[in-house]
Amino acid sequence: MSFTAGADAYDRFMGRYSVPLAPQLANLAMITVGQRVLDVGCGPGALTAELVRQLGPDAVSAVDPSEPFVVAAQQRHPGVSVQRAAAEQLPFGDQAFDAALAQLVVHFMADPVRGLREMARVTRKHGVVAACVWDHAGGQGPLSVFWEAALELDRDVEDESQLAGAREGHLAQLFREAGLHGVEEGVLSIDVEHPSFEEWWEPFTLGVGPAGDYAAGLEPMRQAQLRERCRELLPAAPFVLTARAWAARGLV
Ligand SMILES: C[S@@+](CC[C@H](N)C(=O)[O-])C[C@H]1O[C@@H](n2cnc3c(N)ncnc32)[C@H](O)[C@@H]1O
Repeated sequence: MSFTAGADAYDRFMGRYSVPLAPQLANLAMITVGQRVLDVGCGPGALTAELVRQLGPDAVSAVDPSEPFVVAAQQRHPGVSVQRAAAEQLPFGDQAFDAALAQLVVHFMADPVRGLREMARVTRKHGVVAACVWDHAGGQGPLSVFWEAALELDRDVEDESQLAGAREGHLAQLFREAGLHGVEEGVLSIDVEHPSFEEWWEPFTLGVGPAGDYAAGLEPMRQAQLRERCRELLPAAPFVLTARAWAARGLV
Protein backbone atom coordinates (compact mmCIF):
# COMPACT_ATOMS: atom_id res chain seq x y z
CA MET A 1 0.00 0.00 0.00
CA SER A 2 1.51 3.30 -1.06
CA PHE A 3 1.38 5.65 1.83
CA THR A 4 5.06 6.37 1.29
CA ALA A 5 4.20 9.39 -0.86
CA GLY A 6 4.87 12.76 0.71
CA ALA A 7 2.35 14.58 2.83
CA ASP A 8 1.81 17.25 0.16
CA ALA A 9 0.85 14.61 -2.41
CA TYR A 10 -1.52 13.08 0.16
CA ASP A 11 -3.11 16.47 0.85
CA ARG A 12 -3.81 17.00 -2.84
CA PHE A 13 -5.11 13.47 -3.42
CA MET A 14 -7.07 12.60 -0.26
CA GLY A 15 -6.63 15.46 2.21
CA ARG A 16 -9.03 17.51 0.12
CA TYR A 17 -11.73 15.01 1.15
CA SER A 18 -10.54 13.92 4.60
CA VAL A 19 -10.21 17.47 6.01
CA PRO A 20 -13.96 18.23 5.67
CA LEU A 21 -14.80 14.72 6.95
CA ALA A 22 -12.87 15.16 10.22
CA PRO A 23 -15.32 17.40 12.15
CA GLN A 24 -18.08 14.90 11.41
CA LEU A 25 -16.15 11.94 12.81
CA ALA A 26 -15.15 13.97 15.88
CA ASN A 27 -18.82 14.84 16.32
CA LEU A 28 -19.87 11.19 16.01
CA ALA A 29 -17.32 10.29 18.70
CA MET A 30 -18.94 12.88 21.01
CA ILE A 31 -15.56 14.48 21.80
CA THR A 32 -15.75 16.96 24.67
CA VAL A 33 -13.23 19.35 26.21
CA GLY A 34 -11.14 17.73 28.91
CA GLN A 35 -10.93 14.36 27.19
CA ARG A 36 -7.74 12.61 26.03
CA VAL A 37 -8.09 11.17 22.53
CA LEU A 38 -6.10 9.01 20.12
CA ASP A 39 -6.03 9.44 16.32
CA VAL A 40 -5.16 6.04 14.80
CA GLY A 41 -3.75 6.11 11.25
CA CYS A 42 -3.44 9.88 11.43
CA GLY A 43 -1.67 10.34 8.07
CA PRO A 44 -0.38 13.93 7.85
CA GLY A 45 -3.05 14.93 10.37
CA ALA A 46 -6.47 15.84 8.91
CA LEU A 47 -8.37 14.50 11.93
CA THR A 48 -5.52 15.42 14.29
CA ALA A 49 -6.03 19.08 13.33
CA GLU A 50 -9.72 18.92 14.22
CA LEU A 51 -9.03 17.19 17.55
CA VAL A 52 -6.38 19.81 18.40
CA ARG A 53 -8.83 22.57 17.49
CA GLN A 54 -11.41 21.14 19.89
CA LEU A 55 -9.22 19.83 22.73
CA GLY A 56 -5.77 21.43 22.46
CA PRO A 57 -2.53 19.64 21.51
CA ASP A 58 -1.75 18.23 24.95
CA ALA A 59 -4.96 16.18 24.88
CA VAL A 60 -4.22 14.53 21.53
CA SER A 61 -2.01 11.57 20.62
CA ALA A 62 -1.64 10.12 17.14
CA VAL A 63 -0.05 7.10 15.45
CA ASP A 64 0.63 6.04 11.87
CA PRO A 65 2.88 3.33 10.38
CA SER A 66 4.07 5.62 7.55
CA GLU A 67 7.30 7.44 8.41
CA PRO A 68 6.78 10.50 6.14
CA PHE A 69 3.27 10.96 7.54
CA VAL A 70 4.52 10.75 11.14
CA VAL A 71 7.14 13.41 10.40
CA ALA A 72 4.57 15.64 8.69
CA ALA A 73 2.05 15.25 11.51
CA GLN A 74 4.74 16.09 14.09
CA GLN A 75 5.75 19.22 12.16
CA ARG A 76 2.18 20.35 11.56
CA HIS A 77 0.92 19.75 15.09
CA PRO A 78 3.52 20.79 17.65
CA GLY A 79 2.67 19.56 21.11
CA VAL A 80 0.81 16.48 19.85
CA SER A 81 2.51 13.17 20.63
CA VAL A 82 2.84 11.43 17.23
CA GLN A 83 4.40 7.98 17.11
CA ARG A 84 5.10 5.47 14.38
CA ALA A 85 2.83 2.47 15.04
CA ALA A 86 0.06 0.37 13.52
CA ALA A 87 -3.40 -0.05 15.01
CA GLU A 88 -2.80 -3.74 15.60
CA GLN A 89 -0.05 -2.99 18.14
CA LEU A 90 -0.61 0.32 19.87
CA PRO A 91 2.23 1.62 22.08
CA PHE A 92 -0.03 2.62 24.99
CA GLY A 93 -1.18 1.09 28.23
CA ASP A 94 -4.74 -0.06 28.91
CA GLN A 95 -7.43 2.64 29.23
CA ALA A 96 -5.04 5.51 28.42
CA PHE A 97 -7.66 7.50 26.45
CA ASP A 98 -11.28 8.61 26.65
CA ALA A 99 -11.75 7.92 22.95
CA ALA A 100 -9.90 6.34 20.01
CA LEU A 101 -10.75 7.37 16.43
CA ALA A 102 -9.67 6.03 13.04
CA GLN A 103 -10.61 8.08 9.98
CA LEU A 104 -10.31 6.18 6.64
CA VAL A 105 -7.99 3.57 8.16
CA VAL A 106 -9.85 0.35 9.04
CA HIS A 107 -9.87 -0.80 5.40
CA PHE A 108 -6.06 -0.59 5.32
CA MET A 109 -5.46 -2.51 8.54
CA ALA A 110 -3.80 -5.90 8.08
CA ASP A 111 -6.20 -7.26 10.74
CA PRO A 112 -9.14 -4.86 11.26
CA VAL A 113 -10.69 -6.72 14.21
CA ARG A 114 -7.34 -6.85 16.00
CA GLY A 115 -6.81 -3.14 15.27
CA LEU A 116 -10.25 -2.25 16.66
CA ARG A 117 -9.63 -4.48 19.72
CA GLU A 118 -6.41 -2.58 20.34
CA MET A 119 -8.28 0.73 20.04
CA ALA A 120 -10.75 -0.59 22.63
CA ARG A 121 -7.94 -1.79 24.93
CA VAL A 122 -6.34 1.67 25.12
CA THR A 123 -9.73 3.36 25.71
CA ARG A 124 -11.23 3.59 29.20
CA LYS A 125 -14.32 1.64 30.21
CA HIS A 126 -17.44 3.28 28.69
CA GLY A 127 -15.16 5.36 26.43
CA VAL A 128 -15.81 5.63 22.67
CA VAL A 129 -14.22 3.96 19.65
CA ALA A 130 -15.25 5.52 16.32
CA ALA A 131 -14.19 4.99 12.72
CA CYS A 132 -15.27 5.64 9.15
CA VAL A 133 -14.51 4.20 5.71
CA TRP A 134 -15.60 5.57 2.33
CA ASP A 135 -18.59 3.85 0.73
CA HIS A 136 -16.44 2.25 -1.96
CA ALA A 137 -18.84 -0.69 -2.40
CA GLY A 138 -21.87 1.53 -2.94
CA GLY A 139 -20.07 3.65 -5.53
CA GLN A 140 -20.43 6.76 -3.35
CA GLY A 141 -16.80 7.34 -2.35
CA PRO A 142 -14.67 10.20 -3.68
CA LEU A 143 -12.74 7.75 -5.90
CA SER A 144 -15.78 5.96 -7.32
CA VAL A 145 -15.70 7.58 -10.76
CA PHE A 146 -12.03 6.65 -11.06
CA TRP A 147 -12.67 2.98 -10.19
CA GLU A 148 -15.75 2.84 -12.44
CA ALA A 149 -13.67 4.01 -15.40
CA ALA A 150 -10.79 1.68 -14.50
CA LEU A 151 -13.16 -1.33 -14.37
CA GLU A 152 -14.70 -0.42 -17.72
CA LEU A 153 -11.24 -0.48 -19.30
CA ASP A 154 -10.03 -3.58 -17.46
CA ARG A 155 -12.49 -5.99 -15.82
CA ASP A 156 -9.68 -7.57 -13.76
CA VAL A 157 -8.89 -4.38 -11.85
CA GLU A 158 -9.06 -4.77 -8.07
CA ASP A 159 -10.86 -1.71 -6.81
CA GLU A 160 -11.42 -0.88 -3.11
CA SER A 161 -15.01 -2.16 -2.85
CA GLN A 162 -14.05 -5.44 -1.17
CA LEU A 163 -12.01 -3.82 1.58
CA ALA A 164 -13.04 -4.01 5.24
CA GLY A 165 -15.77 -1.59 6.23
CA ALA A 166 -16.39 -0.32 2.69
CA ARG A 167 -19.89 -1.84 2.39
CA GLU A 168 -23.04 -1.14 4.35
CA GLY A 169 -23.11 -2.78 7.77
CA HIS A 170 -19.60 -4.21 7.63
CA LEU A 171 -17.88 -1.61 9.81
CA ALA A 172 -20.49 -2.12 12.55
CA GLN A 173 -20.02 -5.89 12.23
CA LEU A 174 -16.26 -5.51 12.71
CA PHE A 175 -16.88 -3.32 15.79
CA ARG A 176 -19.07 -6.05 17.30
CA GLU A 177 -16.48 -8.73 16.49
CA ALA A 178 -13.92 -6.57 18.30
CA GLY A 179 -16.12 -6.70 21.43
CA LEU A 180 -17.47 -3.14 21.38
CA HIS A 181 -20.88 -2.48 22.95
CA GLY A 182 -23.90 -0.46 21.82
CA VAL A 183 -22.55 -0.27 18.28
CA GLU A 184 -24.29 2.25 16.01
CA GLU A 185 -23.70 2.78 12.29
CA GLY A 186 -24.16 6.10 10.52
CA VAL A 187 -23.34 7.88 7.29
CA LEU A 188 -21.04 10.89 6.93
CA SER A 189 -21.19 13.01 3.79
CA ILE A 190 -19.00 15.72 2.30
CA ASP A 191 -19.28 18.09 -0.68
CA VAL A 192 -16.05 19.21 -2.35
CA GLU A 193 -15.96 21.66 -5.24
CA HIS A 194 -13.57 20.92 -8.10
CA PRO A 195 -12.81 23.98 -10.25
CA SER A 196 -11.53 21.98 -13.21
CA PHE A 197 -11.20 18.40 -14.42
CA GLU A 198 -7.38 18.70 -14.32
CA GLU A 199 -7.45 19.75 -10.67
CA TRP A 200 -9.50 16.61 -9.92
CA TRP A 201 -7.35 14.26 -12.05
CA GLU A 202 -3.77 15.33 -11.52
CA PRO A 203 -3.44 14.06 -7.91
CA PHE A 204 -4.33 10.53 -9.09
CA THR A 205 -0.97 10.46 -10.88
CA LEU A 206 1.01 11.06 -7.66
CA GLY A 207 0.98 7.41 -6.56
CA VAL A 208 -0.97 7.80 -3.31
CA GLY A 209 -3.00 4.81 -2.03
CA PRO A 210 -4.45 1.98 -4.16
CA ALA A 211 -5.95 4.30 -6.82
CA GLY A 212 -2.75 6.30 -7.11
CA ASP A 213 -0.70 3.10 -7.28
CA TYR A 214 -2.91 1.86 -10.08
CA ALA A 215 -2.87 5.09 -12.12
CA ALA A 216 0.86 5.68 -11.68
CA GLY A 217 1.60 2.09 -12.78
CA LEU A 218 -0.23 2.33 -16.12
CA GLU A 219 1.49 2.80 -19.47
CA PRO A 220 1.08 6.44 -20.62
CA MET A 221 -1.49 5.48 -23.29
CA ARG A 222 -3.61 3.44 -20.85
CA GLN A 223 -3.40 6.21 -18.31
CA ALA A 224 -4.59 8.73 -20.92
CA GLN A 225 -7.53 6.42 -21.81
CA LEU A 226 -8.47 6.20 -18.16
CA ARG A 227 -8.21 9.96 -17.74
CA GLU A 228 -10.45 10.61 -20.74
CA ARG A 229 -13.05 8.08 -19.58
CA CYS A 230 -13.11 9.81 -16.17
CA ARG A 231 -13.61 13.15 -17.96
CA GLU A 232 -16.64 11.71 -19.76
CA LEU A 233 -18.14 10.28 -16.57
CA LEU A 234 -17.78 13.42 -14.47
CA PRO A 235 -20.04 16.48 -14.78
CA ALA A 236 -18.64 19.49 -16.64
CA ALA A 237 -16.36 21.64 -14.47
CA PRO A 238 -16.72 23.30 -12.11
CA PHE A 239 -18.52 20.49 -10.30
CA VAL A 240 -19.28 19.49 -6.73
CA LEU A 241 -18.30 15.97 -5.74
CA THR A 242 -20.47 14.51 -2.99
CA ALA A 243 -18.95 11.55 -1.17
CA ARG A 244 -20.18 9.48 1.73
CA ALA A 245 -18.53 7.27 4.30
CA TRP A 246 -19.86 4.50 6.51
CA ALA A 247 -19.19 5.33 10.14
CA ALA A 248 -19.48 3.34 13.35
CA ARG A 249 -19.33 4.19 17.03
CA GLY A 250 -19.09 1.71 19.88
CA LEU A 251 -18.52 1.80 23.62
CA VAL A 252 -15.81 -0.07 25.49
C1 LIG B 1 -6.49 7.24 3.74
S1 LIG B 1 -5.22 7.52 4.90
C2 LIG B 1 -6.11 8.37 6.23
C3 LIG B 1 -5.23 9.37 6.94
C4 LIG B 1 -5.97 10.31 7.89
N1 LIG B 1 -6.63 9.58 8.94
C5 LIG B 1 -6.96 11.15 7.13
O1 LIG B 1 -8.15 11.06 7.42
O2 LIG B 1 -6.55 11.89 6.23
C6 LIG B 1 -4.93 5.93 5.58
C7 LIG B 1 -3.86 5.94 6.65
O3 LIG B 1 -3.85 4.67 7.32
C8 LIG B 1 -2.53 4.37 7.63
N2 LIG B 1 -2.47 2.92 7.91
C9 LIG B 1 -2.31 1.90 7.05
N3 LIG B 1 -2.32 0.74 7.70
C10 LIG B 1 -2.51 1.03 9.02
C11 LIG B 1 -2.59 0.25 10.21
N4 LIG B 1 -2.51 -1.09 10.19
N5 LIG B 1 -2.75 0.89 11.38
C12 LIG B 1 -2.85 2.23 11.42
N6 LIG B 1 -2.78 3.02 10.32
C13 LIG B 1 -2.60 2.43 9.14
C14 LIG B 1 -1.74 4.83 6.42
O4 LIG B 1 -0.36 4.96 6.68
C15 LIG B 1 -2.45 6.15 6.12
O5 LIG B 1 -1.85 7.21 6.79
